Amino acid sequence: MQDILGQLRQQQAQTLEELCEFLRIPSVSADSAFAGEVKRCAEWVRAAMEKAGLKAELHPTKGHPIVYGERIEDPALPTILVYGHYDVQPPDPLDLWTTPAFEPQIRDGKLFARGATDDKGQVFTHLKALQAWFALRGRFPVNIKFLIEGEEEVGSDNLDHFLKANQQKLKADVAVVSDTSQYGDGIPAITYGLRGIVAAELRLTGPSKDLHSGIFGGSITNPANALTQMCGQLIGPDGRIRIPGFYDDVLELTAAERAQFAQLPFSEAEFLKEVGSGATAGEAGYSTLERRWARPTCDINGMMSGYTGQGPKTIIPSRAMAKITCRLVPGQKPAKILDALEAFLKGLCPAGLKFEFQRFHGCEAFVFDPTSVWITAASQAIQEAFGKPPVFIREGGSIPVVLAFKQILGIDTLLLGWGRNTDNLHSPDEHIHLDDFHRGTLGSACLWEKLAHVQKAN
Ligand code: BES
Ligand code: ZN
Repeated sequence: MQDILGQLRQQQAQTLEELCEFLRIPSVSADSAFAGEVKRCAEWVRAAMEKAGLKAELHPTKGHPIVYGERIEDPALPTILVYGHYDVQPPDPLDLWTTPAFEPQIRDGKLFARGATDDKGQVFTHLKALQAWFALRGRFPVNIKFLIEGEEEVGSDNLDHFLKANQQKLKADVAVVSDTSQYGDGIPAITYGLRGIVAAELRLTGPSKDLHSGIFGGSITNPANALTQMCGQLIGPDGRIRIPGFYDDVLELTAAERAQFAQLPFSEAEFLKEVGSGATAGEAGYSTLERRWARPTCDINGMMSGYTGQGPKTIIPSRAMAKITCRLVPGQKPAKILDALEAFLKGLCPAGLKFEFQRFHGCEAFVFDPTSVWITAASQAIQEAFGKPPVFIREGGSIPVVLAFKQILGIDTLLLGWGRNTDNLHSPDEHIHLDDFHRGTLGSACLWEKLAHVQKAN
């Protein structure tokens, strides 16, 4: 093992150069103007897989291509399905970046670029670790199937189809995903639970056009007033969501898990500084970590109505809309929550408005057994690479593919994040700490070796 780790340490400068090449490709999946760059990025990933010793190909989809590579050493060995994404969030707002999003730059021990941590940097740790294994041993210690998609940031619409159509080809014992974070600075983590999500859009239409608020005001329903009144009912002063039935299926945290969360180092003051907020808030009776990891939410993500330009404008707007997401916890079913949300809002909608409710993506939450043989092996790998054991955490974000792996391929996922939640994911000045990145390559190299020794269930 030491030879492989030594090789990774010795190659650090070259590895960074290559990562910068990856980061220079603006693979923005949400914007069709970038479709050519997304394709170019897929080609780049395919070539990087080949360099790492995998046999790789592009699979076209209705959207952006999936890159798939594999190397089967011996059917008796564990087979690991590695998943990640090469697409990135749009770089906007551009003027808030210190240096341009697709011109990677190193400052203060961090590499800045869109995708540096979410998820190109993290994907690249696995490719480089495999490449080092292949260069020094001519083989991997496990069978590897490597699946990197280009539509994660837009909801992975075409992935389920690919998984269903290729069930046999993708058969594996466990999946590895590095698209989460460490718990904190120098505190590696294994994430054993994620929240689920439902997303919807509420649209209210009143008068057929904007009206003079002096001539007509007070005599008909103003959609913007109605929207705020309706949305204002979603959460009570105690932080509880007031949608009837919302909590019916929620699995409560056990006393043991609450105690385990409480043992993690956590400073309310540091947390507030990190997020730049003045006070914590949320459901009464729960700690900040409990609220973030294991309690459901209902959030307005955006609202639009009327005139928002300079100076006043005296109108009753014709329309108003809000985007809403709920984060879900184990037990809650996306369809049932959307039904309840729609019925609640509809019941609050005043007469005289057209009510429209559009449903977007949804996925359930999940929690894995943190004592599984795979998690134990991954812990040992982290211990070896980081010099300390990981903490076991849940996270509030969602990665729908993890549930798809369980439901379609029947496998659990190891969520091993090498970056940090403070790396500005989805924000300007996204970055990855160079130390985290290089340690990630070591963690990955150790992981394959530890997983090789896990006794398969059958
Ligand atoms: N990598 C994130 C999710 C994440 C980040 C989980 C940090 C835990 C810690 C992922 O790329 C993401 O942003 N997912 C979306 C999913 C949604 C669009 C279905 C999310 O959580 O909002
Ligand atoms: Zn993301």
